[in-house]
Amino acid sequence: MSAPQVNLTFPNGGKSSFSGGLFINNEFVPAQSGKTLAVINPATGKEIAQVAEADAKDIDIAVKAAREAYNNVWGEKVPGHKRGRLLLKLADLVEQHIDELAAIESLDNGKPVSIAKGFDFTEVIANLRYYAGWADKNHGKVIEVDSSKLTYTRHEPVGVCGQIIPWNFPALMFAWKIAPALATGNTIVLKVAEQTPLSGLRMCQLIKEAGFPTGVVNVVAGFGPTAGAAIAAHMDIDKVAFTGSTLVGRNIMKAAASTNLKKVTLELGGKSPNIILKDADLEQAVSWAAFGFSFNTGQCCCAGTRVYVEEAIYEKFMEKLLVKVKSIKTGDGFQGDTFQGPQVSQLQFDRVMGYIQQGKADGAKVLTGGERHGTEGYFVQPTVFTDVNPDSKISREEIFGPVVVVHKFKDQQDLIRIANDSIYGLAAAVFSRDVSRALETAHALKAGTVWVNCYNQINPQVPFGGYKASGIGRELGEYALSNYTNVKAVHVNLNIPAPL
Ligand code: NAI
Ligand code: MG
Repeated sequence: MSAPQVNLTFPNGGKSSFSGGLFINNEFVPAQSGKTLAVINPATGKEIAQVAEADAKDIDIAVKAAREAYNNVWGEKVPGHKRGRLLLKLADLVEQHIDELAAIESLDNGKPVSIAKGFDFTEVIANLRYYAGWADKNHGKVIEVDSSKLTYTRHEPVGVCGQIIPWNFPALMFAWKIAPALATGNTIVLKVAEQTPLSGLRMCQLIKEAGFPTGVVNVVAGFGPTAGAAIAAHMDIDKVAFTGSTLVGRNIMKAAASTNLKKVTLELGGKSPNIILKDADLEQAVSWAAFGFSFNTGQCCCAGTRVYVEEAIYEKFMEKLLVKVKSIKTGDGFQGDTFQGPQVSQLQFDRVMGYIQQGKADGAKVLTGGERHGTEGYFVQPTVFTDVNPDSKISREEIFGPVVVVHKFKDQQDLIRIANDSIYGLAAAVFSRDVSRALETAHALKAGTVWVNCYNQINPQVPFGGYKASGIGRELGEYALSNYTNVKAVHVNLNIPAPL
């Protein structure tokens, strides 16, 4: 039996062919069970490919490959500058293939090709290059205690890392996970999301071409309860990094706790507040607020889905927001001017439409949107709710679609309490021309990221992660290096007499 082959024809006429196998030991192989899973284009709801579907047996094989590689050809066996050069090579290869990769991502996930290229893959490349730079610069330090000994720390790789990623930014989450892990000398077993396996598998070919040794990066497609759970519970995986729902994040922690206590980092959901103070630049605030909730079809963990507008400017803000949201171009990602593609799957479409129905049933007012867009695929109209009960589901739960609730507020002190009244704490934003008021608000918000007069700004250098139920640990920046290193303290006796 051979691994399934993926043959894609894009709506713009382009083509791409690559293996849909499991990538283990630098080879594409079929699943042990021979099973495959269907890949769907969410713009049409039609199947575009089959890829190998891993389960626990395949995870075992991948972990063995990663362990062998860690012990023999990677980790501290390869100096940092060499690991960095491989990451740079991979970045160059992604750059050379960016048009093909963006088309694959668009077909599989639904996002516009222009955004896949201009944002997702541009950031993939930036991340690989950023962490390539760290590969020979992440070191321990000498800690001077007293003259009787030399004490220092080493930043050692953790070992074999399990990484589980979602479908909203398939390639970018792949890069956020592999770049810091490889820079610090770890080997990897990564599971791509079952909804969007293609860009990750295509990048595996580039990983091989870049020259990474056999077994350093292993990538499988598969479902959560089988392949994903096998990673979380594996006794020979030293660390697990997860991005996805808060519900599954809890399961990952439980699995780690009840097996080998592997290190856990989690990047989970959000219901982020976006606060518009009365002295904000109104045009700018409206544009960023619309972008904040609708970018990536609202499938962003940090989406600004609770907007709070100060009473004095509420009417004007809503008038302008309505015009802005109505101007959002929804459609197939291969049409040149599309900003908003479909939801990723039938399930996500149903979830989002379910929340919209719930909002209507709870008496909230639909300012615009509120329906499916078109008749084919999983498109949802960008939707603005007003007059929303702050305790209702649409006001408190993560919807993960292009749906925003807008509230009016009077008292800034009370607003901070309301904005922080959420189980989540991933991101927040505040709009104001008054620096003191803006920063005072930014510092009072319980969130891992606060944007001032902007939204959805992400840089490889700047940490990203959640307070409260939005996660554990930080990705990106220097901070993420600690997720992938064990700190070892070494005490060297210079002249301490033995006590016994
Ligand atoms: P999910 O959390 O089930 O899926 C994310 C990843 O976890 C996928 O690779 C999946 O296969 C894997 N997974 C699922 N169950 C698992 C298990 N028991 N053990 C190990 N891995 C498992 O998210 P889903 O169902 O696709 O989306 C549901 C909701 O989660 C969304 O509506 C959204 O609210 C949230 N979400 C948040 C994301 C984020 O970026 N923080 C990304 C995707 C979803
Ligand atoms: Mg798909």
